[in-house]
Amino acid sequence: MQLETYTKKFLPRIEEQLQSVIEQSQIPGDSSLREMLNYHLGWTVPGAGPKAAGKRIRPLFLLLVSEAVGGVWQKSLPAAAAVEVLHNFSLVHDDIEDRSETRRGRETLWKMHGIPLALNAGDAMFSLAFRAMQKLSRSHSSDVSLQAYHLFTNACLALTKGQHLDISFENAENTQVDDYLVMIQGKTGALLSTSAELGALLGGAPVKLQQTYADLGKNIGLAFQVYDDYLGIWGDSEVTGKSNSSDLLARKKSLPILYGLNQRGRFAEMWQDEITENNAAALASQLKAEGAYDYTKDKAVSYTHLRAHETKAN
Ligand code: IPE
Ligand code: IPE
Ligand code: MG
Ligand code: MG
Repeated sequence: MQLETYTKKFLPRIEEQLQSVIEQSQIPGDSSLREMLNYHLGWTVPGAGPKAAGKRIRPLFLLLVSEAVGGVWQKSLPAAAAVEVLHNFSLVHDDIEDRSETRRGRETLWKMHGIPLALNAGDAMFSLAFRAMQKLSRSHSSDVSLQAYHLFTNACLALTKGQHLDISFENAENTQVDDYLVMIQGKTGALLSTSAELGALLGGAPVKLQQTYADLGKNIGLAFQVYDDYLGIWGDSEVTGKSNSSDLLARKKSLPILYGLNQRGRFAEMWQDEITENNAAALASQLKAEGAYDYTKDKAVSYTHLRAHETKAN
């Protein structure tokens, strides 16, 4: 079956499940908090195109794995909603942390409502994600539900540790590619890996197969983040819905930037000066001229080619 067939099958059910998580939040339907959640999740965006809601790749991946291991994918829907709600919590906080003004082709939540309210809306999603996980006990044994809850909690912690490194690296002098790999494994690899692992666990796969899917998810996560780093500099913001100067402006140690700094050439010199909207495009071209564009694309592809037993992040 084509991937598109699965997407058609799963996406409406994911959306329905997400709606029910928000519906059952006891946050009144006409409150401004509810409005913020609906806006961020892409449900109340005037004139919104298909990218307004996000790709929903984590829940799709979870359900796909659940079915692939022979499980009843419908029973995994609470976990699918939970990983997506947790991801959305992380995006709301990430946009504050990264000073990003645009996401999914529109203003970020903090830009619209200010930092205090956006932080709080993120916290609401964080809590709702955990509440969604608790629903698993209706369709799975308490042992499996508890294991799933542990995996989810650990992923959340790993994500925040990764975000801590990401933010700290902005002002660090000597960040290396190995440090970067640890960081992205946390901020992005952990939730993708856990989405796959949860799919396998809830689908009834044996432990060894659960681990294989966790490794696969981790590598997909690494490839995904490296490609996001590439798009963060050379992407078309009309297509990605995100700025292609904010990584440079925020002095993120993304992979292309680390590569450029290690060349110790003209880009590294330019990096010493102030970076503004006016010179960000010149820095991006210099980075490309020094090979960072090809290097980053090749690296993203290489993580999608690794086999399960070669999953160490190097
Ligand atoms: C963005 O994730 C954050 C990263 C981990 C790179 P996605 O690209 O999955 O974001 P949406 O949900 O589709 O908008
Ligand atoms: C991705 O962060 C990881 C999380 C949001 C936890 P990034 O900062 O690299 O992602 P974008 O580019 O803003 O989506
Ligand atoms: Mg960001
Ligand atoms: Mg970030």
